[in-house]
Amino acid sequence: MFAPARVNLIGEHTDYSGGLVLPVAIDLGTTVEWRRLDGRVRARSLALGDVVEIGADGRGAATGWGRYVAAVVALLRERGRSDVGIDAVVSSTVPIGSGLSSSAALTVSIALALCRAAGFELEPLELAQLMRQAEGRAVGVPCGLMDPACVLLARRGHALLLDCGSEEYRHVPLPERLAVLVVDSGVRHSLEHSGYAERRAEVERGDARRLRHVTSENERVRHVVAALEGGDLDALGPLFRAGHDSLRDDFEVSTPELDLLVDLAYERGAVAARMTGGGFGGSIVVLAEADGADSLADEVVAAYRERTGRGGRFYVCSSVDGASVGL
Ligand code: GLA
Repeated sequence: MFAPARVNLIGEHTDYSGGLVLPVAIDLGTTVEWRRLDGRVRARSLALGDVVEIGADGRGAATGWGRYVAAVVALLRERGRSDVGIDAVVSSTVPIGSGLSSSAALTVSIALALCRAAGFELEPLELAQLMRQAEGRAVGVPCGLMDPACVLLARRGHALLLDCGSEEYRHVPLPERLAVLVVDSGVRHSLEHSGYAERRAEVERGDARRLRHVTSENERVRHVVAALEGGDLDALGPLFRAGHDSLRDDFEVSTPELDLLVDLAYERGAVAARMTGGGFGGSIVVLAEADGADSLADEVVAAYRERTGRGGRFYVCSSVDGASVGL
């Protein structure tokens, strides 16, 4: 089973308060090759070289990435999946800690393998909600619905507009003229060890500055969708810029490296750029004219290296279908 990573165009830190998000599934992802196994779930990571082994009922000690596997098995069991084990090999092209939802790609690909092995099926949104819970159970991160929903529901050539409150969604076509770039700052982020849970608590407590971000960000998602659908690409730059500034100043989840990358991208002629994902490190997303996107990214990374001494990396992404499309 293959589950793609995602990059969020706009709608950041809005999902856990029932707001709007606009992510795209990209051609990086996690693959799980599996066969049935009696009584146990065994998963080997090609990248890390280690093996996780737990009971097919989800019991057993798991550490590191194995905590995600254990949480997925246990949650699917609670939802009625029978205890059919699998022997799985997990490989991934998603850089961990770069803000591209490596964990949702992992949980969704494992979950789909487990479901397939047991002949068990859930609606994509139900599975997405379960994978949202898996993140909480595995590493205590109270994340929102965006990542697993995008990993499951996205459509090639489109962004996914999802209302995380009503769970209504639709696909918004991406203009062919534009390339979607990800530039990784090389500063690893870990939601488990960042201020993510603290930000969520601040929003729930009603902190005025945090809420100002959420309210203005929801508006920006609406405007970005209108600009994409109306072909008004000039509107995208100021909207992404305002989104980035709001994450930096009102929500305080950006870093100097992400701020610099965004500035460099605009200086080098990006149509739009902003930090993407949970923040505290990770990547920026850039929309750029398709011809010229590679050289723009090259220049941004070279200037970034010169200024920071850090090895940034970039990906020119293709948008792909979510994991449940074609199942
Ligand atoms: C992480 C979480 C998402 C979302 C983003 C911020 O990716 O997993 O649920 O909250 O941060 O938009």
